[in-house]
Order: sequence, then C-alpha cells, then structure tokens
Amino acid sequence: MDRGSSSWPLLGLNLLLLLLILPFGGQANAECYGIPGMPGLPGAPGKDGHDGLQGPKGEPGIPAIPGTRGPKGQKGEAGTPGSPGKNGPTGASGIPGIPGPTGPPGEPGEEGRYKQKHQSVFTVTRQTVQYPEPGNLVKFNTVITNPQGDYNMSTGKFTCKVPGLYYFVHHTSQTANLCVLLYRSGVKVTTFCDHMSSSKQVSSGGVLLRLRESEQVWLAVNDYNGMVGTEGSDSVFSGFLLFPD
Ligand SMILES: *[C@@H]1O[C@H](CO)[C@@H](O)[C@H](O)[C@H]1NC(C)=O
Repeated sequence: MDRGSSSWPLLGLNLLLLLLILPFGGQANAECYGIPGMPGLPGAPGKDGHDGLQGPKGEPGIPAIPGTRGPKGQKGEAGTPGSPGKNGPTGASGIPGIPGPTGPPGEPGEEGRYKQKHQSVFTVTRQTVQYPEPGNLVKFNTVITNPQGDYNMSTGKFTCKVPGLYYFVHHTSQTANLCVLLYRSGVKVTTFCDHMSSSKQVSSGGVLLRLRESEQVWLAVNDYNGMVGTEGSDSVFSGFLLFPD
C-alpha cells in the first residue's frame, strides 16, 4: 500500500473533528471568542491498514513456447543382457555336402551262377594216319573248341578245374583192330574194343565221371591201336561239365 497517498484522508478527518469541537466550546464561553487559530500541522501518518482480500484469479497466461531440443547427452552404460529369446522357425534345407571319400572294399560277393562262372568244355580231334603208340596215351593234336584250355594239347590230358559231374565221349575211326581206354588219374575206367570186319570202322564210347579238382582224364590204346584221323574218318574226344558241385 502506498503510504504517501493514504495520509491525506486521515488529515481531513482530524480537521473535521476540530471544527465540530470548536463551536461547542464557543457556545459555552461566548464572550471569549478570539481569532481562530491557525490550522494545526498535519498529523503523523497512520498505521498501515490490514491486508485486503485476495484478488480474483487472473486471466490464463500466454501459452509457453515449446522448448527447443537440448544437446545430445552422453552415451549411457550398456544394460545387462536380456534372457534368451525363443527358438526361431526351422530354416530351409542346406545344399548337399561334398561326397565323402571312397570306403574300403566290401566282402567278396556270393558265387555267381554256374552259367557265368563254372564252365568246362572241349572237343579235340586227332588228325594223322599214324597209329598211336601201342599201350600208350593218345594225343589229340587239333582243337575244335577248348575255351578254358582244360584239355592240354602238349600232355594230351584233361585236367579238372571245376569239381562236378562231367561227361566224356569219343568217336574214333579205325583201319585196324582198336581198343580205346579211358583213364581217370591213372586208373582205367572204360575200354571199348572193336575188331575189324571191314576196311574202315567207327567205334565210340562215353562215360559220366564225378571229378575232384586237379583230377586228370585221358584216352589211351592197348596193343590194338588202329586209330586214324583222316578226311572222312575222324577221331574226336570230347568232355564237358554237366553240373558243378
Ligand atoms: C600243359 O601242361 C604242361 C605240363 O604240365 C604245362 O607246362 C603247360 O603250362 C600246360 N598248358 C596249359 C595251357 O595249361
């Protein structure tokens, strides 16, 4: 409160009180009227008044201008690692890898069919006008077929390589008495003899033998050795494996 402007109303109030008192006093003592005195000096300022009531709420202020973005702060410390997340979905299949190294050889397979593996056949002829030596092995000197080489041309003997059942057969031409003997490993098995009744004859014989490996079979003659092999009068010796063991 402005103290300077409030002192004057108080001064006026004091003067009014003085003027009211003065006529009453003059009525009591009428003969004592004198010249009115000079107005007194202004009194001392009064004490401050009490605080007034709170004023009404003011109008809303002007909205503040949004502050501008401050400078970037310093980087904070790394937080603690979080708990592991859930497993993701299965990915697509990868590209096939490089083939591995070759493995060791496998066990030998089972034996193939005899058609493929177990074969033994031969047919040989003896082409000569000479009689074989009496009492001796007969060598056949010409091959018709001998794919396995089981008939040995230099020894005149068949050697068994595949054990099994074999059939041996011979057809011989003769111009003199003849006995053909079949030997198996040095033991005589069969003898076919034919005594001449004409100038040329053919005799034959055959036998089945179950042979073991390395056993040998050959033909021989005894003292009757009239075997020949000429055009139109062949002498052949054949053998073949029927069933392998
Ligand atoms: C025939 O037999 C002889 C004497 O045993 C031998 O040296 C030769 O190698 C045999 N030949 C064949 C084709 O087996």
